[in-house]
Amino acid sequence: MAACRLPITSSLPFGDFPKAHFQTGTRGGGGVALVSNLTAAGWGRRMVVTATAATEMPKSNNKREEAAEGFVEEMRSVAMKLHTRDQAREGEKEPDSGSQPISKWDPTLRGYLKFLVDSKLLYDTLDAVLNKATCPSSYAEFRNTGLERSKQLAKDLQWFKDQGHAIPEPSSPGEAYARYLEELSEKDPQAFICHFYNIYFAHTAGGRMIGKKVAEKILNKKELEFYKWDGNLSQLLQNVREKLNQVANSWSREEKNHCLEETEKSFEYSGEILRLILS
Ligand code: HEM
Repeated sequence: MAACRLPITSSLPFGDFPKAHFQTGTRGGGGVALVSNLTAAGWGRRMVVTATAATEMPKSNNKREEAAEGFVEEMRSVAMKLHTRDQAREGEKEPDSGSQPISKWDPTLRGYLKFLVDSKLLYDTLDAVLNKATCPSSYAEFRNTGLERSKQLAKDLQWFKDQGHAIPEPSSPGEAYARYLEELSEKDPQAFICHFYNIYFAHTAGGRMIGKKVAEKILNKKELEFYKWDGNLSQLLQNVREKLNQVANSWSREEKNHCLEETEKSFEYSGEILRLILS
């Protein structure tokens, strides 16, 4: 049986993406701040990511945040800081030179189809990993959450095909990310879970905004199945937050930090796929 759980210090065969170094220290109000100084490949500049450990944070009045307290709130906090201000209010990242807010995007149908095809490859890969019997038992928690997107994307691609559009093969950003997820799933469960969280949750937030803008610009406002969920999406998300918190409860602080460090790679890989929309 393939060993799926290796020590998190095992080195991964993914080239030279620099590792973030998370350190704990104190920050205003006595909260614990995790500070990562790193240079992300492809971002071409140095940046600082801070995340406040939710367990140390003052209680929030925001209902969603209260419900999500626990490790998910840490994951969200790191992710939000990696947005630019024009992407999300909590964003702290400087926009890359030449990047445009989505209101100014000029999407192409060809590019959007590439994005949908690569997205399907990612969601197919996540499904396959989660359903593989030999992987860490914690993955089983995340089967059939209702957030799956593969079937919906298959329907959308069929719809485009029926309209006479050629459906492209997956492109290199999608293939690279899918390969990376497969590798991680076997060797680094904490990092894999980070991608699981970011891929699914990003799609329900910014992903939906992007889908709406693209539909307004090039699809005559047609709402794709990709952006529709069966049941109450907030509840589905909340169920997954609770499972993530439960799974992370058994992790050491080092494993949690390792998971948080991976967020940047998730943004990098997903960013490449998002950029296909403009190609
Ligand atoms: C143009 C690109 C993007 C835009 C416009 C965007 C926008 C947003 C917005 C508006 C939110 C909601 C903030 C809130 O709760 O108030 C959000 C949440 C989030 N985004 Fe993004 N985002 C983008 C790209 C990404 C990427 C590439 C990732 C990671 C792969 C990501 C991960 C997340 C996560 C994890 C959340 C938290 C969702 C939740 O708490 O339910 N986003 N984003």
